[in-house]
Amino acid sequence: MPSQTVICDHYDQHVATCQERWAQALAAEGFDAAVIHAGSEIISFLDDYHYPFRTNPHLLAWAPLTRHHDSVLVVEPGNRPVLYYYQPDDYWYLPPSDPASWWADHFDVRSVRDTGQWRDGVPAGRVAFIGDAPDLQGRDELNPERLLNRLHLDRTRKTPYELACIAESSRVAARAHVEAERAFREGCSEYEIHVRYCEAAGLVDAELPYGNIVALNTNGAVLHYQQRQHQRPEVCRSFLIDAGATQQGYASDITRTYSANGGSFSEMIEAMDGLQLGLCDGMRAGVDYRDMHLRAHQDIAGVLHDFDVITVDPATAVESGLSSVFFPHGLGHYLGLQTHDVAGLIADEEGTELPRPEGHPFLRLTRTLEAGNVLTVEPGLYFIDTLLNGWRARNGDDGVNWARVEELSPYGGIRIEDNIVVTEGEPVNLTRPAFSAQG
Ligand code: GLY
Repeated sequence: MPSQTVICDHYDQHVATCQERWAQALAAEGFDAAVIHAGSEIISFLDDYHYPFRTNPHLLAWAPLTRHHDSVLVVEPGNRPVLYYYQPDDYWYLPPSDPASWWADHFDVRSVRDTGQWRDGVPAGRVAFIGDAPDLQGRDELNPERLLNRLHLDRTRKTPYELACIAESSRVAARAHVEAERAFREGCSEYEIHVRYCEAAGLVDAELPYGNIVALNTNGAVLHYQQRQHQRPEVCRSFLIDAGATQQGYASDITRTYSANGGSFSEMIEAMDGLQLGLCDGMRAGVDYRDMHLRAHQDIAGVLHDFDVITVDPATAVESGLSSVFFPHGLGHYLGLQTHDVAGLIADEEGTELPRPEGHPFLRLTRTLEAGNVLTVEPGLYFIDTLLNGWRARNGDDGVNWARVEELSPYGGIRIEDNIVVTEGEPVNLTRPAFSAQG
């Protein structure tokens, strides 16, 4: 697969960057080495089944150990990193297979049968322990905050390997989104659409970066809608799907909204699509993401006004908080090993907070953009009863055309989300070409 080759080709440089970043961060914080624990499986209460395992992202940043609980990496600047690769002798569960050379050749890999064998390899000196495995509890230098902040800030600037992983993850998700739309147009239930998505992506639930949001009709107004109704609705008006994929642990995070028919809701989707593309185009180095979030409010209020949903001008709607009734979440977030990737709200290794604009408590990214950042752009417009009722209780009928709200509420809401790479020049949209390539 060519994209896989691209990923492998960039990996050498990626590991060199990891070495460099860790050496600098450790030195700056006065550490001689770090021990990064993948994490351990968690067993459900009074049972012997495990919750789906997620590897410590600080280990995943070094190597694609997505299913490797209890593996441990020892990083000591100047030396080849040592990987205690946990391969238990087990007949209940299949242990990880031998590591692939494209990545493993960069490490001193030691296959271990016991979870604690790494303890013999902890270097002398001041060592930072990174992770949340029970095996690490009680260590003095567990997840030192300033060290983590430095590493998190480093992770906001993606390497070419990471960009290739996220781009591939976007292609996988786009393929599955196209299949999901097809299922919607065939009249499938939320559950059926979800299954079709997973099949097209070649991923099971536990391999998805987050639980798919597969919402028909009014369920589109539930921001993190988590149910997947088996029953097909009598009337299918609209479909909102927020679903991604993963590649070597790197996530994509994509949302699309569809209308079953033409009419106002369909036209609103088109207007939101144009608005979203404009915002994507604004994601450039040196831009404060908070300004983009506020611009999104202004633009969305413009759509609401154009479609006669609000009766006040856009500036007044933003000023009064009315735009937040229809767009109550943030414009987006960093994306990478974590769907909501790290360091979106901090300025430096101290963890100095970059405040959100007043009245916008859910914004997850308040930084000034830099080349190498990968982020989402996901403006939304929803008809959410509880927020609309709250507005009405506080403000009476002020500013809202309630007849229009009633007409459009059965469609739930609209969100359109792409994944964007910030560069020194034009932003790179990873999502649109991934859809175009599906034909
Ligand atoms: N797309 C899921 C989320 O951002 O929470």
